[in-house]
Amino acid sequence: MVKQEAFIYSSIGRKALMAISGAFLGFFLFLHLLGNSAAFWGAGAFTTYAAGLHSLPVLVLLFEAVLLSFFIIHIILAVILYYENLKARPRRCLCRKNAGGRTWGSRTMPYTGIIILLFIIFHLLMFGGVKPVEIAALVRHDLSRPITALYYFISLAALTLHVSHGFWSLWQSLGIGLRHTDLLRKSSLTISIIGGLLFSLIPLLCLLSPDFLR
Ligand code: HEM
Repeated sequence: MVKQEAFIYSSIGRKALMAISGAFLGFFLFLHLLGNSAAFWGAGAFTTYAAGLHSLPVLVLLFEAVLLSFFIIHIILAVILYYENLKARPRRCLCRKNAGGRTWGSRTMPYTGIIILLFIIFHLLMFGGVKPVEIAALVRHDLSRPITALYYFISLAALTLHVSHGFWSLWQSLGIGLRHTDLLRKSSLTISIIGGLLFSLIPLLCLLSPDFLR
């Protein structure tokens, strides 16, 4: 027990927990994307998917509880990591900005994280607790407004950048594929861009296609 506690409070333990919670959040994103893709088959398919979810309240509630717990853990650990990195940073760094393998994704993690957090709050205020029969019309109505669609595109770009580093970092923290870091970096970037584009397709179609989700 003492050993377990020590592991969680150690830097390696925290990194592992960050990776595991991030992996679960990524798993949620994958499921959400899969569910959302019902929209490409029309309003009927999207409503059936939403009704299917609502017909399993206990399972959904359990999943939401685990999701929220991992989400909170992920944020707390991110804040701790941010302050630890800040303390460890030399006062004036004359080194090259992307020395040490730093990328756009890694450098912007705290900022993209905040953008995603704000997006989720906004997103749940828009679509949380809506009846399945109303979901397709509401998504269409809200996401066909240029300002809301633009907000979604910006947030999804931040999500893509965040996941591109997070997914790569997951393998590093778990010590998997350390000899193939370049390949992992490229595949993480590719997967996150594909996910970001697929998510963006819904507001894009709401904005441009008069028949989408009708
Ligand atoms: C642009 C594409 C997206 C669309 C059209 C969309 C649509 C929806 C809808 C309709 C719901 C309500 C589902 C229901 O109650 O039946 C929902 C829930 C949710 N969405 Fe999204 N979503 C999108 C992207 C995202 C992204 C990128 C995230 C995370 C960063 C996200 C996070 C969530 C969360 C956390 C919930 C609540 C899940 C639950 O209560 O179990 N969504 N979304």
